[in-house]
Amino acid sequence: MTDIHHFLDIDLLDRETLRKILNTAKSIKLLDSQLNYLHGRSLAMVFEKPSTRTRVSFELAIKQLGGHAVILDQNGTQLGRGETVADTARVLSQYVDAIMLRTSAKASLMEMSEAATVPVINGLTNESHPCQIIADLLTIEECKGPVGEQVVAWSGDGNNVAASWIHAAVKFQFELRLASPKTLQNASGLIKWAQSNGGRVTVCEDPRLAVEKADCVVTDTWVSMGDKKDSERRSLLEPYRIDSKLMSYAKKDAIFMHCLPAHRGDEVTTEVIDGKQSVVWAEAGNRLPAQKSILMWCLGVSV
Ligand code: CP
Ligand code: NVA
Repeated sequence: MTDIHHFLDIDLLDRETLRKILNTAKSIKLLDSQLNYLHGRSLAMVFEKPSTRTRVSFELAIKQLGGHAVILDQNGTQLGRGETVADTARVLSQYVDAIMLRTSAKASLMEMSEAATVPVINGLTNESHPCQIIADLLTIEECKGPVGEQVVAWSGDGNNVAASWIHAAVKFQFELRLASPKTLQNASGLIKWAQSNGGRVTVCEDPRLAVEKADCVVTDTWVSMGDKKDSERRSLLEPYRIDSKLMSYAKKDAIFMHCLPAHRGDEVTTEVIDGKQSVVWAEAGNRLPAQKSILMWCLGVSV
């Protein structure tokens, strides 16, 4: 064990730390965004997959706090020619104060964190997306109040983002109901972990059951980066599309959330994502204070 503050997954952090990160994200929105909390600090971001929000919000987050960002992709670095993730981690640790990695394999993220001598941040893997969830919880608390009092419903693919919602449900003690087709549900081991840790997490196949009287309805793309686009997957997910009818089962004042990018007409209708209940733009905006807070926690800086 090291005392380096890696931000790898929500389930690996204790409740107090997670609440501190969420509260710092809230405070940072109220403060002058140019405060130099991270003066002279630097972040390397390694992208093995595309990104708009994660890339822009992390780059601006460190710059607005007085630091610097270096953005790397697999093909523009020696990673693309076979230099190992561990060696890359050792080298980057000589130059920067933190590393963010977006990759497919969780094993690569772990390899990076084991070899790095600076904090490593999970910028998404096939298995989770913890930075997104900090922004999402911030959005829920701004729109609806304490997250522990909310019922969150997920309808769609049991993917990486859903997995981070499951982690968060346990740590922040809100009720989470997931509806996914049998073959696209989150791993049963993850659900068992949540339930055995006191999580109010349930999985079903009926989206109406999940959405019934929920405070917050969430979905994500049917085809994540790296998934094969096949027609079977699509037809399995058709009944999980969030449309006005499905939204009508939630509470009247329920909000609609999506980490984006969205595919109108697939996982959500235009009417819902562009409608009054949708908070997706605020949610995307909240990536910026969330990344600031994550960086500050990783680098041991408090507000
Ligand atoms: N939500 C999210 O992580 O978006 P990007 O893939 O654009 O970073
Ligand atoms: N589940 C999506 C999230 C994108 C931010 C993906 O992994 O492609």
